[in-house]
Amino acid sequence: MVQFEQDGVARRIIAAVKAQIHSGAYRPGDRLPSTRAFAAEWGASRTTVTAAYSQLDAEGYLVIRQGSRAIVAPGLEKASGEAPVAAASPRHLSAFARRLLTLPPAALAQPVKIADFRYGDLSGADFPVLAWRRASNKAIVNRAARLRYGDPQGSSGLRNALQAYLWRARGINCTPDQIVIVNGSQQGLDLCARLLLDPGDPFVIENPGYLLARHAFEAAGGIAVPVPVDADGLRTEKLPPARLAYVTPSHQFPLGGVLSATRRRSLLAWAAGTGAYIVEDDYDGEYRHDISPIPPLQALDADSVIYVGTLSKTLSPTLRLGYLVVPLSLRRAFGEAKRLTDRHAPMLEQDVLAELLASGAYERHVRSIRRKNAERRQVLLKALADHLGPQVTVAGADTGLHVVAWMNGIDAGRELAIIAAARAAGIGLYPVSPLYDPSRPRPETAGFILGYAGLDAEALRRGVAVLATILAEHR
Ligand SMILES: Cc1ncc(COP(=O)(O)O)c(C=O)c1O
Repeated sequence: MVQFEQDGVARRIIAAVKAQIHSGAYRPGDRLPSTRAFAAEWGASRTTVTAAYSQLDAEGYLVIRQGSRAIVAPGLEKASGEAPVAAASPRHLSAFARRLLTLPPAALAQPVKIADFRYGDLSGADFPVLAWRRASNKAIVNRAARLRYGDPQGSSGLRNALQAYLWRARGINCTPDQIVIVNGSQQGLDLCARLLLDPGDPFVIENPGYLLARHAFEAAGGIAVPVPVDADGLRTEKLPPARLAYVTPSHQFPLGGVLSATRRRSLLAWAAGTGAYIVEDDYDGEYRHDISPIPPLQALDADSVIYVGTLSKTLSPTLRLGYLVVPLSLRRAFGEAKRLTDRHAPMLEQDVLAELLASGAYERHVRSIRRKNAERRQVLLKALADHLGPQVTVAGADTGLHVVAWMNGIDAGRELAIIAAARAAGIGLYPVSPLYDPSRPRPETAGFILGYAGLDAEALRRGVAVLATILAEHR
């Protein structure tokens, strides 16, 4: 029996600790939990945990000394493969770099066998290959006579086409001059951070919220002021003074609330009253399932709002194409910052996108991918209801490409063990808890973000079925 447990559980513990070390979550010199605490957390015996730790010691991952807690071997670098690598220290670093290095590193995706619920993935099968090829051929044939650097805000062809699209699709009233084409929303957020925050400036961030936004603002020296969210989005009655507020009003990330009309008004009144800017991240505004269109904040106050859009949810996150709609008064600052960052976004991709928009192919594609993702969502919701019934509470399913699944009756402290067991069974699972501010209380119930846009119906069904058996073992 002990041998059986050791084989399975010890192997999972070994894999989980290695993954934590490779992702940088455990750094060289970090102390691991005591074997007693680890065993309690995993519901395993101390003998099993001791065996797993000894194996990790033998492989050079841990250093174990009699009478003290195991530590991660010094010199073992993040994502360095199997062998420990000695890390050289930089000669000197800017304050920006030092802030950057205090942020938690993100792990790259690892392949899994059955279903990876990683949020942000799209299915390669959904990419509009023919339309892209046609538009791409046209863009190459029609290339300029001289290949020269373009406008840092982006090509005028794309900005004109986007302006018309944003009016039709999102009710945004702007001129092409207000649009800045960026390399994904992430670059837009980074530009906002660098242009609108000084070190020490407070910024409002949703709690829980989007870590890559928070980190961009923190790297610029901003001080996060977490404001709680509920089913109606950001709790605007709690807004403190700040230089800017980052919000996801159409589909709060990750919990999925839609910012209510009253709160939209009070957020805009707060910005107008305090002189703060609002960074509106409309990352998956194209995906509304059971609710009517939600007008963006930008449509209500074009002077206070910097609107951030992305092609990562409709075409591909690998393209790195996004756009900002900025108040006219900020246009020059954004243009100059973009020029210094990388001159401008790649021109060929901009021309292809402009052609897709102008020909109507983009909107046809959006209608098609919206339908496909609505089907995936149905399959996922049904599988969750069939396999878990009242044991799961699903949040945020009205819009977007993910849901949050709260596992009723399972303590949040079991999340890591469930994730490790799921991975061993071929399921990629991602917890909600890291998206909460570390200084504020976290939920007591285990919760997972289930992204479904990268999975077919069969993988969704099998994934939920396997997950249900794993959860039963942890209940
Ligand atoms: C809240 C939020 N904003 C934006 C994005 C898209 O980022 P990007 O445009 O940099 O690919 C994502 C992707 O997962 C997201 O979750």
